[in-house]
Amino acid sequence: MKHVFTRTALATALVLAAGTAAATVKVGFMLPYSGTYAALGEAIENGFKLYVKEQGGKLAGQDLEYFKVDDESNPSKGPDNANRLIKRDQVDILVGTVHSGVAMALAKAAKDSDTTLIIPNAGADAITGPLCSKNIFRSSFSNWQPGFAMGGVAAKKGYKTAVTISWNYAAGKESTDGFKESFEKNGGKVIKHLTLPFPNVEFQPLLTEIAALKPDTVYTFFAGGGAVKFVQDYYASGLRKTVPLLGSGFLTDGTLEAQGESAQGLLTTLHYADGLNTKRDNDFRAHYAESYPKMPPDVYAVQGYDAAQILAAGLNAVKGDVSKKDAMRAAMGGATIDSPRGTFKLSKAGNPIQDFYLREVKGNQNVSIGIAVKDLADPARGCKL
Ligand code: PHB
Repeated sequence: MKHVFTRTALATALVLAAGTAAATVKVGFMLPYSGTYAALGEAIENGFKLYVKEQGGKLAGQDLEYFKVDDESNPSKGPDNANRLIKRDQVDILVGTVHSGVAMALAKAAKDSDTTLIIPNAGADAITGPLCSKNIFRSSFSNWQPGFAMGGVAAKKGYKTAVTISWNYAAGKESTDGFKESFEKNGGKVIKHLTLPFPNVEFQPLLTEIAALKPDTVYTFFAGGGAVKFVQDYYASGLRKTVPLLGSGFLTDGTLEAQGESAQGLLTTLHYADGLNTKRDNDFRAHYAESYPKMPPDVYAVQGYDAAQILAAGLNAVKGDVSKKDAMRAAMGGATIDSPRGTFKLSKAGNPIQDFYLREVKGNQNVSIGIAVKDLADPARGCKL
């Protein structure tokens, strides 16, 4: 039989094809795929894609088309990299990034172009503070949050003096400031803040200084490859016998296999932990292990997974029509996210209001040993929404 297309049939076929193409939601990942934070970027992408896979490969009936840029955790390349996704690829949704300095550039580009941005890690306080915006959401944390949670724990343990140490950029500064705020409010005193440039790992001179200062404890922010080296060096210096090391949970998340013996017993605070043993988390971990058997189900994977959940909430509300930006964003901001970490809602500024677990390293796990602060909301200082 001969196939004869009438004019109407052909036109219908073309409209259908065009309709299908337009229905694809373009998602741009701006993440570090190289450098000290490379494993974090990979875990975020894995988590995001796992949630989409669990939904049958579509969100709100739409296929997703992915675009990727390696931001190298390099703030000076931030504006250009953001514009590759916004202007060249014309993505509907931005997902990024890990490094706070790069995220500041990305947030500015997203605001200027009125593109919806979901931040799956970077904690820069300013983004949900003075720079808060209706098009920006975080599935992660503000840098202030884990630091603030640990300051109270340290004071309760009876420590009176602390030294803080971190890379000299927003994440390190804000994490240690959060620690200082609650530690000092509860009677402690931070006697010195030590820094080195990101992503340097020459810790030796700073460890010598800590030994001379003899504080009751040290609080630190490091993450990724740098965290592995810091924990190893701190252990090798012998300091742990006299000066207990505390950290935001990034110090030991996704890093334990490499840190091994040097991390055992470390206490950290974070919005995720091993051993939560809820059905929701167990299901997530089983699915993650099936899809990515070589990667631990760490906090970064959870933040990527929840970034996809926030997007799904928005897309469902507008039946996949990303042109309805206001309605989509209202639904994203108002959603209750059924996260593996525990359910959470976003603050008005778009940052998760969530529990902070106190965790202890046992083997290759950051085991939850309790909740340091329940429902901790970032103060969102300077946010006018
Ligand atoms: C940040 O730069 O905000 C940052 C980077 C890595 C982390 C946490 C925060 O693990």
